[in-house]
Amino acid sequence: MRVALGVGGGIAAYKAAELARALQDRGCQVEVILTAAAQQFIQPLTFAALTGRRVITGLFGATPDEVLSSSIEHIRVARESDALVVAPATADLLAKFAHGLADDFLSTLYLAFTGAVVLAPAMNTNMWSHPATRANLEALRGRGHRIVEPGEGALACGMVGPGRLAEPEHIAEIVMAGAGMRRDLEGETVLVTAGPTEEPLDAVRFVSNRSSGKMGYAVAEEALARGAKVILVSGPVSITAPAGVELIRVRTAIEMRDAVLENLGRATMIVKAAAVADYHLANVPAGKIKKTTERLTLELDPTPDILAEAGRRKGDRLLIGFAAETGRLVGEARRKLEAKNCDMIVANAVNQSGAGFGSEENEVTLVLRTGDIIPLPRAPKREVAGRIFDHALQLRLALHAAAR
Ligand code: PMT
Repeated sequence: MRVALGVGGGIAAYKAAELARALQDRGCQVEVILTAAAQQFIQPLTFAALTGRRVITGLFGATPDEVLSSSIEHIRVARESDALVVAPATADLLAKFAHGLADDFLSTLYLAFTGAVVLAPAMNTNMWSHPATRANLEALRGRGHRIVEPGEGALACGMVGPGRLAEPEHIAEIVMAGAGMRRDLEGETVLVTAGPTEEPLDAVRFVSNRSSGKMGYAVAEEALARGAKVILVSGPVSITAPAGVELIRVRTAIEMRDAVLENLGRATMIVKAAAVADYHLANVPAGKIKKTTERLTLELDPTPDILAEAGRRKGDRLLIGFAAETGRLVGEARRKLEAKNCDMIVANAVNQSGAGFGSEENEVTLVLRTGDIIPLPRAPKREVAGRIFDHALQLRLALHAAAR
């Protein structure tokens, strides 16, 4: 699950660092937004070090270029996040949210965001009990937002009473439950392959393909968010692996095969989204091939078919392959399903613009062992991953029922 964590300007801002950690421990990817007031209490560096991501500190950049990109950044964060969590939610932030003010990044994000909102207020007891704050809270509750009640005790201002930020672990639990995330992959171990492979031609050259890893990483993220343990076998990509996966980096098809077969026994589901090279140079020269004026012919050998090998050893594991096609989509997918003993093939027409290799979205057709053909609408890769798991779980039930 992707969480946008907004931090307000209160003494409890330091606890938001523990909250970021607690959310990451539960498999969330956390993107932090600090209000200007929060930055008086805690440094962006703290959150950048914890999350491994740039921390958002304002709506506008310092240079025209940054202004251009940052002015739509709140829309990007709104689109990419599953939950917006604000801790500490100060009286000022509650008032802004309740009345729809949008004068900084966090309040602007709040208005642009359509997912689950969890607010963890913290403030002085009198501010908490003030009728204005009570009315704002009622309005926010009325919108279906989850309010994590503050605890009682001695406050930084010297008063004793309600107003202390709830414990980070408690907030994290409420985020997981309150965000309505299904945990229907709990108990599963999902082995995912992603990205391209690189097949060396000599000491400095290689052949590869345009896979960015986005599809496979989205599958890994979705599985993690739904409670699975995830082993991610990744070819060389430039995107960051979701926090909480067991990441195995590989380069070549042979390395990917070894990593998959070594870990197959631990998996209950295998999803092979990687674009594995079909050919490689079996005997790679140790040095660099010298340039001459002659034509150069290299003879490539087929690489091992990892999916087919996994199909031979799968037992009762659910095996999901992908198929990148430019021709007969469903026919080829069906052939691959049979030939490689898969339970599902996610068929990808890779000649459509805006889908397939490198893009943020994908448009696929699911071809199932039961004979069902399910075309899915074009959607962000994470949503596509969600639909793949929805159908995979139903398929497993159908296969078990048929086997009885
Ligand atoms: O990474 P992105 O930029 O997000 O792009 C996503 C994608 C287009 C790469 C992805 O959605 C996709 O379609 N992946 C499969 C690409 C592919 O290699 O298709 P294929 O039809 O050549 O292979 C069929 C299946 O066999 C795949 O599951 C592949 O992982 C597997 N295979 C292929 C060759 C091989 N030697 N071993 C394999 O296991």
